[in-house]
Amino acid sequence: MSVNIKAKISAVGHYLPEYVLTNKELEAMVDTDDEWIRTRTGISERRILKDPGKASAYMAAEAAREILNELDLDPKEIDAIIVATVTPDYLFPATACLTQTMIGATNAFSFDLSAACSGFIYALSTGSAMISTGQCKKVLVIGSDKMSSIVDFTDRSTCILFGDAASGVLLEPSDDETGIIDHILHSSGEGAEALIQKGGGSINPASHETVDKKMHYIYQEGRPVFKRATEGMADVAVEIMKKNKLSADDVDWLVPHQANLRIIDATARRMDITTEKVMINIDKYGNTTAATIPLCLYDWRGRLNKGDNLVLSAFGGGYTWGATYVKWSL
Ligand code: ACO
Repeated sequence: MSVNIKAKISAVGHYLPEYVLTNKELEAMVDTDDEWIRTRTGISERRILKDPGKASAYMAAEAAREILNELDLDPKEIDAIIVATVTPDYLFPATACLTQTMIGATNAFSFDLSAACSGFIYALSTGSAMISTGQCKKVLVIGSDKMSSIVDFTDRSTCILFGDAASGVLLEPSDDETGIIDHILHSSGEGAEALIQKGGGSINPASHETVDKKMHYIYQEGRPVFKRATEGMADVAVEIMKKNKLSADDVDWLVPHQANLRIIDATARRMDITTEKVMINIDKYGNTTAATIPLCLYDWRGRLNKGDNLVLSAFGGGYTWGATYVKWSL
């Protein structure tokens, strides 16, 4: 088996549900207001997947179809599909297997990856390793989360934050100096209790009690998570810059996980880069968990040039956090 083939991103796709849930609408649901949400988080609206019977696999398949259509690619050519999600359609089978069948990628092997808001960065690292070893030539890496399925719409501290979306990339071997250059990944289970969905797994299987105690919803202790996220996202972004000898001038774009505008701003400040170089779309979509980073790549794809240096950085439940250095290939 050959080693050290560099992976490149050869296409980006996305899916956004049509329904727009505005801050104004949330004002009628919980004790909050548009100004608080915008100043504390940067969010104005988010998308919600309302169609019954559609969830993360459907959204991932739509994002994958966009990639296949753009490249006029036969789905049978896909070797592997990784879906990063914390809102799988089922605990098993994997959402990626459902996505595979929806798009007709009959020759692929497929699996899910759970790393919350760092899910896309983790999956990108896994997918690029599968290219690097020569095991695969075409890997779909998709972040898909139907956060509305685990959000308590009576809890004002969390229901304002999240939205539904899928977005992803195709990875292929690179034949030039561009591609995915480096990854740094971290995790620490000491944050487990601060950001968690307590019910439905093997420790608290679904029961009347878990439903009554609202254990199937996201539970978040906002303040400690905010502090750790601000430190973690900034630290790892600076760490990957130092490791690759990138100055602030060398970085063309910061592609941050979109959890809170204040966390994004703090990361950019620590990297000493100006706001024009920061991809921000949290105002339109909120926190779509594993989908935020590829959704930024999708929205900015027309403004990226081949050879641009991108630093991707994320922090999420687990805790998990990490950064990726990409030399843009398109
Ligand atoms: N509207 C109005 N007031 C509110 C709302 C709301 N929607 N939500 C909370 N408040 C109140 C609180 O009750 C509190 O009132 P009190 O002081 O009387 O107790 C006050 O506002 C301040 O609350 P804080 O929690 O301190 O507000 P904070 O400034 O920390 O913002 C937020 C809360 C936005 C959740 C922030 O803590 C945050 O962004 N945390 C990190 C999120 C994150 O990065 N998560 C990781 C990724 S998610 C994943 O992995 C799935």
